[in-house]
Amino acid sequence: MAVERTFSMIKPDATRRNLTGAITKMFEEAGFSVIASKRVWMSRREAEGFYAVHKERPFFGELVESMCSGPTIVQVLQGENAIARNREIMGATNPSDAAEGTIRKAFALSIGENSVHGSDAPETASQEIAYWFSETEIVG
Ligand code: TYD
Repeated sequence: MAVERTFSMIKPDATRRNLTGAITKMFEEAGFSVIASKRVWMSRREAEGFYAVHKERPFFGELVESMCSGPTIVQVLQGENAIARNREIMGATNPSDAAEGTIRKAFALSIGENSVHGSDAPETASQEIAYWFSETEIVG
């Protein structure tokens, strides 16, 4: 199994409820190393650019609005099979479908305010990491 890097966000609904530490602890307990981390308040332009793949979807406006509503913690997680394992630890997009023990089951408020983001494939992980971090900010 390869050591991978994935991009993660602790979304405004979670930072607002002071869940940054609790969620990061779940990543670390799962064996990931947090090799880059910063707190950002996204501009509308940054949120629209990040989620451009969803721009034709009916929820796009609400998604952008919610990502701009407060601080987000953007992170790079490193570990064995990190991309798929992080998706497992996050749980299903809709918290009512999320399995016991997942972050979204524990903390998400709704499908729109679902506390975390994690890349879904190696190509998106590389793109998303590069969207938020320069090489010198990543200390592996
Ligand atoms: P998506 O990439 O489908 O899910 P995931 O975050 O699990 O990879 O969707 C991106 C975000 O868009 C999702 O985390 C929350 C928001 N969203 C909605 O608000 N309503 C929806 O019906 C869907 C599918 C997503």
